[in-house]
Amino acid sequence: MAGEGRPRTLFPMCGIVGYVGQKQALEIVVAGLRRLEYRGYDSAGVAVISDGELIVRKKAGKLANLETLLGSDPMPDSTTGIGHTRWATHGGPTDSNAHPHVSENGQVAVIHNGIIENFSELRDELTSAGVTLTSETDTEVVAHLLAAALPESDGDLAEAMRRTCRRLEGAFTLVAVDRRNPDLVVAARRNSPLVVGVGVGENFLASDVAAFVDHTRDALELGQDQVVAMTAASVVITDFAGEVVEATPFHVDWDTAAAEKGGYDLFMLKEIAEQPKAVADSLRGRISKDHRIQLDETHLDEGILRSINKVVVIACGTAAYAGMVAKYAIEHWTRLPVEVELASEFRYRDPIVGPDSLVIAISQSGETMDTLMALRHAKSQGARTLAICNTVGSTIPRESDAVLYTYAGPEIAVASTKAFLTQIIAAYLVGLYLAQVRGTMFEDEIRAVLQDLNDMPSKVDLVLDTTEPVRELARELSGSASVLFLGRHVGYPVALEGALKLKELAYMHAEGFAAGELKHGPIALIEEGVPVVVIVPSPRGRAVLHDKIVSNIQEVRARGALVVAIAEEGDEMIANYADHVIRIPAVPTLMQPLVAIVPLQIFACEMALAKGHDVDQPRNLAKSVTVE
Ligand code: M6R
Repeated sequence: MAGEGRPRTLFPMCGIVGYVGQKQALEIVVAGLRRLEYRGYDSAGVAVISDGELIVRKKAGKLANLETLLGSDPMPDSTTGIGHTRWATHGGPTDSNAHPHVSENGQVAVIHNGIIENFSELRDELTSAGVTLTSETDTEVVAHLLAAALPESDGDLAEAMRRTCRRLEGAFTLVAVDRRNPDLVVAARRNSPLVVGVGVGENFLASDVAAFVDHTRDALELGQDQVVAMTAASVVITDFAGEVVEATPFHVDWDTAAAEKGGYDLFMLKEIAEQPKAVADSLRGRISKDHRIQLDETHLDEGILRSINKVVVIACGTAAYAGMVAKYAIEHWTRLPVEVELASEFRYRDPIVGPDSLVIAISQSGETMDTLMALRHAKSQGARTLAICNTVGSTIPRESDAVLYTYAGPEIAVASTKAFLTQIIAAYLVGLYLAQVRGTMFEDEIRAVLQDLNDMPSKVDLVLDTTEPVRELARELSGSASVLFLGRHVGYPVALEGALKLKELAYMHAEGFAAGELKHGPIALIEEGVPVVVIVPSPRGRAVLHDKIVSNIQEVRARGALVVAIAEEGDEMIANYADHVIRIPAVPTLMQPLVAIVPLQIFACEMALAKGHDVDQPRNLAKSVTVE
């Protein structure tokens, strides 16, 4: 059996903060961790250096537990510190497994995001050398290796980090402090996120700019296999061999308020409310005065766009559902076949992609490991790659040939909301651009779709104006054992996304189906009172879709289902078939997902609240999934 006899491995996928400057490091680090807690919340820990001493506090559970510990067992003043919030896929989140991990000689402390794949061999080597390991983690191995590498590096922590990294296999961001170098923080990155925040008389390291945006909006992207040595006054970046390298600077174009709740009780509620703006921002600047799509920023080569013969979307979860929505539009507009593949499956099935394929990787975080690995596979096959991403400086856009950013602003709640809408918008823009370049749509057709897109912020606003009926319904149905979601055409991925929201937030059995598929098996799930949420296509556009879904509603109703119809204003007929009707504005068929998903987000959020769950940080999950 694979892994038999190996110690249990903890594979963290975590939030990391480092600070060196003039201020109280602990305050800055803990505030940064609060911003990064979405990345993992199984345990948290901090280390500071004060008067030549390395002091560590760590605690299982959410950051609040660590804060309580810090209240009862305070740390001394310090201007150098690191902090970690963890998400584990194996093993129990315990105090001893929490980061930072300290070398046996007490000299260095290390925090880590990722997997040290050869940790088992390294661990054996260390134990044979007489080192006693006190946790089950792979990270602790690095702490001991780093301490051992320091003497042979003349006490240079950055050199010791490079030496250590050269021995490591896997994916990692590592950040370390050394009590003998009290004004220095050193970090390394391979296949795992890390950005540097450049301040005045202070510098920052973090998995995500959200951790330091309160202090500086000037940042540096780190490349693969790089080590950064940071003091209050300097940032020096090298590769693992020690060659100094230039980092790419970038400016964070959102501010502190965007990363805070801004008067809302929950990040998710704030992010749902931000959707009209996120959609508008993602369209802004991409449509010229003469109604043409301008995506010059992406550096998409028109010659290549003319030459491709298929589009493949790779993504996970919500992003994959956004890709499924876009498939309907892109195929319709361009007549190019569009495949949507779950990124985690893509490279294992020997996909047919090559120089004639445009592979679009959709990712809010830009760090999802499944999507990154699929992207790399596509590139290795010669495919042209485009990232649709919300996080500037993240790995997926950096490794893609071209990038189209969504401007959703930071999405902190684990459940994606505004990312979904803006991913659809971005993918639609790519589809229309392809149609424009390839001449598969007339100018006035493109113009009409652009007008529809421009109308969407106000349409989404209309949905947000009347949320009480759906919230009331969620509370009423919160005792249900299961909820099914049905859709057709673009309503099908909306049904999948609605079910995903309910699963992850309300911990409830929920499934989305193509409505026509129900009779091929899943209809057996219907029994008296089972809520079935149906995304009803417009009766105006392709009336056949509406007629068919009415038939599907009748099929489930005849078997006792309680039908909740998400239907457009003016579709009066639907009231005859549904127990509840949630109204959305009338929009063209391809635009409907942008309004139809909103009540489903609210439904899931409210149901989770009714059940007393943590909406922003649902159990077992993390925002950014940086393991495969
Ligand atoms: O950051 P990404 O868009 O690559 O994340 C992909 C999925 O993990 C993500 O969409 C996930 O399914 C949602 N957070 C669920 O709400």
